[in-house]
Amino acid sequence: MNRQGILLASGNPGKLAELRRLSGDLPVDIRGPESLENGLPHVEETGSSFLENAVIKALSAADAAVADGGDDWALADDSGLAVDFLDGAPGIRSARFAGTQGEERDLANNTLLLEKLKGVPPEGRRASFWCVLALARPGQVLLAVEGSVEGRILDAPRGKGGFGYDPLFFHEPSDRTFAELEPEEKVSISHRSMAMTRLKTALESLVPQGTA
Ligand code: IMP
Repeated sequence: MNRQGILLASGNPGKLAELRRLSGDLPVDIRGPESLENGLPHVEETGSSFLENAVIKALSAADAAVADGGDDWALADDSGLAVDFLDGAPGIRSARFAGTQGEERDLANNTLLLEKLKGVPPEGRRASFWCVLALARPGQVLLAVEGSVEGRILDAPRGKGGFGYDPLFFHEPSDRTFAELEPEEKVSISHRSMAMTRLKTALESLVPQGTA
């Protein structure tokens, strides 16, 4: 049986492991960018939405996969936080919100977010995490799915787990911030896992088991 190879346009080993687990018994082989002789090309994320940026990255990675002589499908993700009071900001700028790079990045982003929400009461601090996954081959988007989870931005960080905006993101059904959840708990409710579950369903119709 032919298996469909998929290049993941992300160097994050956690994402690769999660995707592989999720793809289960589908006839797909998912590999990371370290398998490319020259790595992934740098792409400017010039889109104005998570979807546009995920598509830009997936199309570029699909070209790189083919140039490398390998499989011609590539999967990319884009994610971030949207705060209602800030009209959806930081949104696609979530990673670079405060303009700080390196180890201080998350702290700087969270500090800026708290400043922008200073004095806003709890009911005005609604926010959501978003994740879009796009699958493409050269010149063609095969599918795109999204996942989201709602919460509220606290006025001070809580918890030591997770990354990014997790310590400020309070998830009401869990009665904790994302940084206070066990990793397995976060994985089961996150925007990323919702998108991945939808990806699996979509992949099942794109790569029917037994016919690939
Ligand atoms: P990326 O798509 O992995 O590059 O993430 C973009 C940015 O969105 C990250 O740098 C974080 O600031 C934020 N973000 C995305 N997903 C999460 C999450 O699950 N928790 C906290 N922050 C996140």
